[in-house]
Amino acid sequence: MTEKTLVLLKPDAVERNLIGSILIEYERNGLKIVEMKLMKASPKLAEQHYAEHNGKPFFNRLVAYLTRSPLVALILEGENAISRVRSLNGTTDPENSPDNTIRALYGLSLSENTVHASDSKESADRERAIWFG
Ligand code: CMP
Repeated sequence: MTEKTLVLLKPDAVERNLIGSILIEYERNGLKIVEMKLMKASPKLAEQHYAEHNGKPFFNRLVAYLTRSPLVALILEGENAISRVRSLNGTTDPENSPDNTIRALYGLSLSENTVHASDSKESADRERAIWFG
C-alpha cells in the first residue's frame, strides 16, 4: 500500500549540517520526497505537533527544542512508508537504536534524537495537516 508520512529533521540535525546525510538514507531506500520546507516552528505549531505529550514532565523541553532554530519538515511517499521510515529512523532513544539507523548514526540523546516520523496512519494524517495544511 502506498502511504505518505510526515518527517521532521529536527533543529539538532539542521544545526549540525546533517540535512543531506539524512535525506540520502530515505531516498536510497526508495522513498520519494513529495513536500519539503525549511522553517522555524512556532511554539503553537510545536505544541500541536506534540499534543499527546502535553502535561508530561518533558513537554516544555520538547517544545523549546523543536522551536530553538530551523527544522526541515517533509512528506515521504512510498510502499508502507510509515513503518519503513520508522525502521530507518530507529528507536526513540539513540542509545538503543540498531546499528546504521539514523538515530544510531546521528542522534544525540532521548530529547535530541534528530528525526521524527509519524507512528501510524492516523498520526501521519494529523501531522501532515499540521505541517502542510
Ligand atoms: P519523537 O519521536 O519526536 O516524539 C516524541 C518525543 O518525545 C520523542 O521523539 C523524544 O525525543 C521525546 N521523549 C520521549 N520520552 C522522553 C523522555 N522521557 N524525556 C525526554 N524526551 C522524551
